[in-house]
Parts: sequence; C-alpha cells; structure tokens
Amino acid sequence: MGRGRFDNPVEAALTGLKDLFGRQALAERLTDDLRLEGRTCLVTGASSGLGLAVATQLAQRGARVLMACRSGIPERGEQVKAASGNGAVEMLQVDLSDLEQVHRLADTLRDRGERLDVVVENAGVAAPRARRSAQGLEAMFVTNYLAKFLLLQRLLHDGTLRNQAFAGQEAGAIARVIVISSDSHQGAAAIDWEDFGRYREFGVNGAIHNYSYFKLILNTWATELSRRVNPSVGAVDVSINVMCPGPVDTNIVRDAPVLLRGFLRGVFKVFFRSPEVAARPVILMAASPDFEGSTNRYLHMFNPKRMDEKCYDGAAGAELWRRSEALVASVGCDLASRERKVG
Ligand SMILES: NC(=O)c1ccc[n+]([C@@H]2O[C@H](COP(=O)([O-])OP(=O)(O)OC[C@H]3O[C@@H](n4cnc5c(N)ncnc54)[C@H](OP(=O)(O)O)[C@@H]3O)[C@@H](O)[C@H]2O)c1
Repeated sequence: MGRGRFDNPVEAALTGLKDLFGRQALAERLTDDLRLEGRTCLVTGASSGLGLAVATQLAQRGARVLMACRSGIPERGEQVKAASGNGAVEMLQVDLSDLEQVHRLADTLRDRGERLDVVVENAGVAAPRARRSAQGLEAMFVTNYLAKFLLLQRLLHDGTLRNQAFAGQEAGAIARVIVISSDSHQGAAAIDWEDFGRYREFGVNGAIHNYSYFKLILNTWATELSRRVNPSVGAVDVSINVMCPGPVDTNIVRDAPVLLRGFLRGVFKVFFRSPEVAARPVILMAASPDFEGSTNRYLHMFNPKRMDEKCYDGAAGAELWRRSEALVASVGCDLASRERKVG
C-alpha cells in the first residue's frame, strides 16, 4: 500500500522511547477547573488503553460520555462510571472495520437526535497481518483511516456534529474533533494513489510501514476536513485537531507474534507512559479555552508541532477526499447507497 517511516517494530518502539525526554510545553495549561458539564463526548475505541483513559477523564470532568466500542460492553462502561462517579456514561457497539456498522452507529446517533460537542476518533490497531474486512477491504486500513472518514462524513451530513458546510446549520457552539494519530507518520512516503485502498498482503514489518503510512493518510484527511468544514479564511465552525499521545503502555501490540509481543510488552511496561498520563493532552484539547475555535493544530503529547509537510498539501487532501468517497462507494457504503438501502 505504501511505505511508512519504520522498517520494524523494534525501531518504532525505540523511537517512541526517545520522544519521552522532551519538555511538555502545554502541560500546565490542563488545570482542575476545566470542566465539561453539559457537553456530550463520543470516544471510539474506549474499551482499552488511551480511549478508556480519555473516556474516564472526560467523565471525571462532568461530561456525558458515549463510548463507541467493539468489545467490553457493558463492563468497561461500568468501570468508567465507578472511576469517575459520573453515571452519564453509555456504551454503543461498533466494529469499525465494518463500514455498515459505522453507518449503524451514525444512524443511532442521528435517530436519537444526539448533538455531539466533542468527538475523539481514537480507535486504532497495529495488526500483524492483512485481513479482509466485511466489505473485502484491508481491515487495518479501514479501522485506522476509512472508518474515521466515513463516520465524520455521516456525523457532519446528519448534523450530529453541528456545522454549516455539510448540514447548513446555524452558527453555534463550536464542536471539537480530536483525531488520535501518531508522530510515526513523519517521514512516511507520499500517498500512493495507484495503490490507494487496494487489498495487499503484509506481515509484521509491513504492518509497521502501514501503521505510520495510514497515520499520514489520516492526518492529510484531517487537514482537508478542516478546510472543508471551515471554508471561510479565519472563521472556524468546527474545530478539527490532531494529536499523538507519544509512547503509551497499552494493548496495541496484543496481536503481535508471541516472542515479539513479550519483548514489546516489556519495553512498554518499563519505559512507556501510562494511558492516564497520555490522555491528558486529549483532555486539554477537549476542554480548554486554548483550543476554542482553533483548528488544524497538531500536538505531540503536550507539544505543539507541525505535522509532516505532506499533510498540508491541498491537492493531496482533495485527491484523498475524492478517492475515499469513490472507495466507500465502490463497496456500496457511501451516503447515497446507504440511503437507497434503508429506503
Ligand atoms: N500505544 C501507543 O504507544 C500509541 C502511540 C501513538 C498513537 N497511538 C494511537 O492511540 C490510539 C489508541 O490505541 P491504544 O494504544 O490505546 O491501543 P489499544 O489499547 O489496543 O486500544 C485500541 C482501541 O481501539 C479499539 N479498536 C480496534 N479495532 C477496532 C475496531 N475494528 N472497531 C472498534 N474498535 C476497535 C480497541 O477495541 P478492542 O478492545 O475491542 O480491541 C481498543 O478499544 C490508536 O489510534 C493508536 O494508533 C498509540
């Protein structure tokens, strides 16, 4: 599919380690008085790792939290309620590698008349081999990128995320979208349009390439999304920001081959940060006035930074949008085919 920045998982883990020793510029901006009462937040992949910690901290700050998860229902939701003392936590089932399920999640939110204030597009995998998704696409590509594209398209078209550009809604409170990416996207090869969305077999090293390459695609999309929902220069209608949590001790290597998994788990446990610490910049982006009405920003942990320059290329963003729409349509999951199917 393309070429990422790293040649193998050990190199990727060691680079993650180096990232830990920088200063954390905005850390002190996350103060206890930042509250989220009255806000509804959707977090994907909230059953584990970073997403679970983000859901817990959003609930602790008073938000109503919708956890969109493939597994852990209902126990992870109960865990978040107990840890936060906030009963306004709900789990919604979705396997994001299946685009039909992405539509069903969006249908549920639309039919209930939900209005989301914060969406954290967090779910992600580092799959050790290629797998066919329900629609015959490559499952890691769908989970890590295409499902996020489709989910946001639906939320915007349905007005579940208030916006003028897609739903023609009146100006109002600015919703915040936070896309969880990885700094490993820096240095990944440019998007290979000929190969875009094509199913390709890969093994462990290919997975590491794909992981950073898909994050480059994700960031290019987030930048394009920010342009499309905010067409007037200087005026922000929906805030779309990207962050990398740095190296975090989570379950992301759960599917790696046994020996490699043992090694990586060891490195993660000893050196990487806890999900609770890694979640803090996400909470800053969700709750702080510093991020009110700001868009197309990138945080690497607590540090503002530029993404790889390729992510800002407007021509690449437009082409990515067009190809993503065509790909989703080719498997009968675009917005128009969905409307035809459901009547
Ligand atoms: N860990 C790190 O060092 C690191 C570094 C940079 C960026 N990140 C990013 O952080 C995000 C969270 O990852 P993590 O490290 O917290 O890993 P994790 O502990 O493995 O959590 C991943 C979450 O995504 C969910 N998920 C995976 N595939 C899904 C699917 N098809 N449908 C619905 N949910 C699915 C998982 O659900 P299940 O529990 O059901 O599998 C889980 O809740 C990812 O985007 C990752 O790329 C992580």
